[in-house]
Amino acid sequence: MNNIEQIQSELQGKNPRKILRHALENHDQVAISFSGAEDVILIDMALKIRQDIQVFCLDTGRLHPETYQFIEQVRKHYQIEIELLAPDYQQLEALVKQKGLFSFYEDGHKECCGIRKVAPLKRKLAQVDAWITGQRKDQSVDTRQNIPEIQLDPAFSTDDHPLIKFNPLVNQSSAQVWDYIEAFQVPFNALHQQGFISIGCEPCTRPVLPNQHERAGRWWWEDATKKECCLHIAKNNV
Ligand code: ADX
Ligand code: SF4
Repeated sequence: MNNIEQIQSELQGKNPRKILRHALENHDQVAISFSGAEDVILIDMALKIRQDIQVFCLDTGRLHPETYQFIEQVRKHYQIEIELLAPDYQQLEALVKQKGLFSFYEDGHKECCGIRKVAPLKRKLAQVDAWITGQRKDQSVDTRQNIPEIQLDPAFSTDDHPLIKFNPLVNQSSAQVWDYIEAFQVPFNALHQQGFISIGCEPCTRPVLPNQHERAGRWWWEDATKKECCLHIAKNNV
């Protein structure tokens, strides 16, 4: 059994704090990937373990104003640095010049996400040994059921640069996350008060109706099995 499998069997089913503790105590170069949504609880939990945490957001340039305000609120509330990763301007300008600002409605979100999210993420992940995400199984019955607590990153790990990915919230339900937010008075994104559950970029996210699944509000013009933007899918599915 290799080391990651062994740690996975030790962390399986453990609470988020135990998984986070393992990540933060065993890796110096480890960063939390914060989307500006309810994954803010990772920051709250992490700061109770270690003060010098690294946090980054993929600033696609297309987030909601409320999300930018929330990122700023979190920065001030916790007095932490948040690294905002911008897309490569040459790639972005070429895309927009050729296809306009809303090409994703016509030929899918992969190209725009590739430039605005995946390339900046790759750049960041080259600098760390491990990253921490707020993915949960209950966010998608189609794409997130097999996520482990710890894994060799299926999309960004290479032979030269093995990269560990931690998913401390994997077994948490949305209700548990919101209980934590309430219990510890954690700040949250104002969009959640306007019917948004899952929050991504503004043109690609909309509120959901009662009883609709949260992912229904993401890339709603595409089918459910494609509602991932390559941050979290294995190389052979990209
Ligand atoms: S996505 O792949 O569909 O966009 P989702 O919104 O469910 O992801 O968020 C799952 C996790 O992916 C977040 O908790 C966070 O760790 C990471 N993530 C998603 N979007 C961003 C972003 N813009 N910046 C940083 N991390 C992100
Ligand atoms: Fe572009 Fe939409 Fe992907 Fe944001 S979510 S990077 S706007 S396709």
